[in-house]
Amino acid sequence: MEQEILIIGSYVQDLTWNTPNFPAAGETVIGTFQTGPGGKGSNQAIAAGRAGARILYAGAVGPDTFATAAREFYESEGFSCQLIEKPGHTSGTAAILVDEEGQNQIIVALGANGVLAPEDVAEETVTAAKILVCQLEANLEATSHFLKIAHDAGVTTILNPAPMRPDFDPAILEHVDILAPNETEFASIIEALELGDSSKDPLEYTGDELDALRQKLGLGTLLITLGGRGSLVCEDGVFETVSILEGITAVDTTGAGDAFVGGFAAGLLRFNGDTVKAAQFGNAVAGLSVTKPGTAPSMPRLEEVEAVLLKGH
Ligand code: RIB
Repeated sequence: MEQEILIIGSYVQDLTWNTPNFPAAGETVIGTFQTGPGGKGSNQAIAAGRAGARILYAGAVGPDTFATAAREFYESEGFSCQLIEKPGHTSGTAAILVDEEGQNQIIVALGANGVLAPEDVAEETVTAAKILVCQLEANLEATSHFLKIAHDAGVTTILNPAPMRPDFDPAILEHVDILAPNETEFASIIEALELGDSSKDPLEYTGDELDALRQKLGLGTLLITLGGRGSLVCEDGVFETVSILEGITAVDTTGAGDAFVGGFAAGLLRFNGDTVKAAQFGNAVAGLSVTKPGTAPSMPRLEEVEAVLLKGH
């Protein structure tokens, strides 16, 4: 495989309404509408690809117009994809509300993503990658299978445990090198594994405390994203907070986490495995993504990322 980063995960058609304010229960508000390509897996793939990495995205879709649009989108971007068609299932869809502050609320219907199967992506494809990136928005058994064969073959595995789900099985972490949760996903994992006070702010951990947690989780790297407070990198001998881009006006924060993960994966290759530099790169990708509406279409291109990093952000 000539691709360096394999992203296996969800493709979702995003149906987005912009609203002056989120409606209360029983309330109707007038807003505006747009639709476009989304899904955490695909968003991360587009972020990594636009940030300069050679990527292959693999995910499941239905036999519908959303899948046709997905194929056209990948073709227009010039990125490789394997879209596995699942008869009898619709492509994933998401209802997204974005308010005037750029904050969002999302409901996702997994559709075909929920039946992605272990046999859908060939073992040789998985083991030929340098990095495999997965999330929790596709079938969890298949996700665990892909992470296992990659990890066993020495491929660097990154899991973004989003969205956190009631059926999440922490055993999947055995196959993960780099875990990249946000604060709430981190708290859920701490709670599920009874590893301490899940309400504790990640920034309140000392380096030794977080490192002990990382080791208990069996991870090479724990990378916690903290929204506007940046991200925290913890690995053997490294405990560092990486700040976000300064002076950003957010118009739509949807997909910012995906931008970070995709940018981080691309940065990991660019900076030869230096996780702190990769997190700085990921933060730049995420910071730029929130300045535009939409998810995958808002991912910045390498020139934009390099320009802001050059300015010393
Ligand atoms: O992370 C943002 C994504 O979550 C959206 O694109 C939506 O499809 C949901 O999957």
